[in-house]
Amino acid sequence: MIRSALMNVMTAAVIKAGRGLKRDFGEVENLQVSVKGPGDFVTAADKRAEKTLFEELSRARPGYGFLMEEGGAVEGSDKSHTWHIDPLDGTSNFLHGIPIFAVSVGLEREGQLVAGVVYNPASDEMFVAEKGQGAYFNNRRMRVSARKTLPESLVACGIPPLAGIERHARFQTELAAVMAKTGNIRRLGAAALDLAFVAAGRCDGYWERGIKPWDIAAGIVLVREAGGFVTDVDGGSDMLSRNAICAGNEAIHRQLLETLRKA
Ligand code: IPD
Repeated sequence: MIRSALMNVMTAAVIKAGRGLKRDFGEVENLQVSVKGPGDFVTAADKRAEKTLFEELSRARPGYGFLMEEGGAVEGSDKSHTWHIDPLDGTSNFLHGIPIFAVSVGLEREGQLVAGVVYNPASDEMFVAEKGQGAYFNNRRMRVSARKTLPESLVACGIPPLAGIERHARFQTELAAVMAKTGNIRRLGAAALDLAFVAAGRCDGYWERGIKPWDIAAGIVLVREAGGFVTDVDGGSDMLSRNAICAGNEAIHRQLLETLRKA
């Protein structure tokens, strides 16, 4: 486990936010059967978790800036540090009572992602990494998988929702190309966990377009520190600005990129 002061700050913040989310997740089940449904309640839970993270991290590291899913960008006096925060990644799963969601916090220093924490409060699974310090899953060192070929691999992806209908055709083309070569595909519904699962060797690769910086910032550090590769879908390093990502162990990342390029 990484015992740095920074990791203590980050893990304490996600555990606190996660405690609230876990409580709220229990309530979602009751609301499923109500006429109004749990929509507004989930939005409020999301905002509460973000407030907790904002308060905890601001107190521990005054002056750092924020880029948050709900609250947008908040400039800090310290221009070299920015937190990338998704208080509830996997909102749709949470809304439907599916326990695959996470709190995701990444730290950017001088334009580089240097630390990431992804925590699923429902399963109490904590994935952490700090640049140069390795990656850990519940206090144990984690590594990307050693699978070398797509046919033996499990590859995660993100499916654009109805609101992203303009991306459906391209996704279908890419999915068909990847499916034709890959053992099997997963759609977890939480990008931070897709990346955490690649880092932990549960999935061998992952790609998605239309993804936001706060969904992937923490996970990028996890995959890299677990020995994996992360790029945008063209092999470049502009994942955050191009809203596209491709990750995996070295061999699967390469084969996935090639498959996507030819799709
Ligand atoms: C979403 C999830 C999902 C991905 C979407 C994201 P949210 O994040 O990560 O897996 O496919 O692109 O927007 O909205 O649940 O924080």
